[in-house]
Amino acid sequence: MEKLYIVANFKSNMTNNEAKNWLDVFISHKQELKNMGDKEVILAPTFTFLLSFNSVFSGTNIKLSAQNLSPFDEGAFTGEVNGKQIKDFADYVIIGHSERRNNFGETDEMLTKKVNLALKYGLTPIFCVQGKDTNIPQGVNVVAYEPVFAIGTGTPDTPENADKVCEDIIANHDNLSVLYGGSVTSDNVANFTKSDKIKGVLVGGASLDPMEFLNIIKNA
Ligand code: 13P
Repeated sequence: MEKLYIVANFKSNMTNNEAKNWLDVFISHKQELKNMGDKEVILAPTFTFLLSFNSVFSGTNIKLSAQNLSPFDEGAFTGEVNGKQIKDFADYVIIGHSERRNNFGETDEMLTKKVNLALKYGLTPIFCVQGKDTNIPQGVNVVAYEPVFAIGTGTPDTPENADKVCEDIIANHDNLSVLYGGSVTSDNVANFTKSDKIKGVLVGGASLDPMEFLNIIKNA
């Protein structure tokens, strides 16, 4: 069965207490979360919460993702978290988000290194592209189309345009699932996921409210 990916990217948000409260609400709906059919729900909290989220969700159908990984392997790279370390807690890793390209100067070359290290340690990259012309490294099977104008603005891309861009991306690559991200909410998610070109959503701001995220899962 083909998966429909529903990914929560918390970005650099939440204190420990806020994350605990989020989990309490989310887990109180575990019965609904057990029967999600083809929906692959993935939570990408900050690194500091991966351990606690892993202990809550290990053995369940909820998957975890890191938001980033080091472009280096293990070793003397102060401040970095590498793919081998992440694999202890997560199955996925977001790579190439426009916020990292724009604020941290991440280049195509660096992103290719990150993809290679993710694959080396058995992590599935969720590779973010800003349009059909963004370079996609070899070995990537899950891509998120996230137009910069739609991120955090409350103005998503039109479903028609998202559909067209996703179609163009798929046309140039084999075995690619393309997700849409940018101002996705429980009200608009179905406009995107009803397209057979769009295999899921990457949700930022709206995922910080656990009830809203649960509704996104439900309505997708
Ligand atoms: P928003 O849902 O807040 O627009 O963020 C989208 C995003 O960047 C997810 O990675």
